[in-house]
Amino acid sequence: MGEKDEKLILDIQDLKVIYKTDIETVEAVNGISLKIEKGKTLGLVGETGAGKTTTALSILRLLPQATGRILSGKICFDGEDLLTKTEDEMRAVRGNLISMVFQDPMSSLNPVYTVGQQIGEAIKLHNHDLSHEEVEGRIDEMLQLVGIMPSRKAEYPHQFSGGMKQRVVIAMALCCEPELLIADEPTTALDVTIQAQVLAMIRELRERLGTSMLMITHDLGIVAQICDEVCVMYAGKIVESGTVEDLFRGEKHHPYTVGLFDSIPNISSRATRLKPIPGLMPDPTNLPVGCEFAPRCEHCMEICKKEKPQVYSEGTHKFYCHLFDSENLKTGGSENESK
Ligand SMILES: Nc1ncnc2c1ncn2[C@@H]1O[C@H](COP(=O)(O)OP(=O)(O)OP(=O)(O)O)[C@@H](O)[C@H]1O
Ligand code: SF4
Ligand SMILES: [Mg+2]
Repeated sequence: MGEKDEKLILDIQDLKVIYKTDIETVEAVNGISLKIEKGKTLGLVGETGAGKTTTALSILRLLPQATGRILSGKICFDGEDLLTKTEDEMRAVRGNLISMVFQDPMSSLNPVYTVGQQIGEAIKLHNHDLSHEEVEGRIDEMLQLVGIMPSRKAEYPHQFSGGMKQRVVIAMALCCEPELLIADEPTTALDVTIQAQVLAMIRELRERLGTSMLMITHDLGIVAQICDEVCVMYAGKIVESGTVEDLFRGEKHHPYTVGLFDSIPNISSRATRLKPIPGLMPDPTNLPVGCEFAPRCEHCMEICKKEKPQVYSEGTHKFYCHLFDSENLKTGGSENESK
């Protein structure tokens, strides 16, 4: 565990994050571990409130200062634990080595500056000694990279469509050629056709630049299109993980993942209806003693209400569910002490 794995760009180990206010403590991330290999894309999926954005903000150490607190764990980026870095060191990491694209492009764009000025600022932030002409050249290059005519750089964000704004934000995130791009629901605010275009662009950029990615989404269709590996998150825990093949072709799944699959439109049957999983995510200020999914799970057994399941693995495919207790699967963790 102590030695550096050269293949990994990101290695999160047992991360726990809470939001603490005077009246309550929200247990947002409850001991998650995940790895991203260099050049690969990991999808982090799960419904609203699962803890996806909290995980992303923890990587960049951008949790709200007043309430957000990382209780324990490690976030190793290229072998170095970001949680031990000073604020100055983190500033050098943000936007330089790791960039983030948020769900709403307007949260990253300033309405009073032109698109070109904003990309220019992002470029200058990381290349102090470029001449004016060199910066202009880079702005044109970045716009071209994301499929926008460089001649439009003198326009303001409101003159761009939603999809184009998100492309500009992605261009800004990529200008420093980050080693890791975190995209938090980058296409959710866009309509379906534009969403497909932005996704195709992200995929192409990744292939061209070799950037590693953490793609946060609640949409398994997006995962199928652009991810190599997937972690399914529920109530602050990773309940299933594996390669895209494991998730889409594997026979065994965590009941929550089954629910998620049911809730995406089935292309073959041409059903367009979304089927939400019945019930609600547990209150994060008062999580169940046993399995977090128990109150909504149709397979719930007595043990599920009392004990947290451990990790079971089948090659690259991992599950966190008591259903696999009795099966002939190798345990991923220590021997089960709990009968
Ligand atoms: N600033 C905050 N203060 C208190 N609680 C918060 C704060 N931000 C998030 N939470 C809580 O932490 C939990 C995880 O939230 P998070 O935003 O990480 O979920 P998410 O998976 O990104 O959801 P979504 O899909 O809606 O973006 C939720 O219960 C949420 O209400
Ligand atoms: S541990 Fe039990 S309650 Fe939880 S998902 Fe598995 S079967 Fe359902
Ligand atoms: Mg979020």
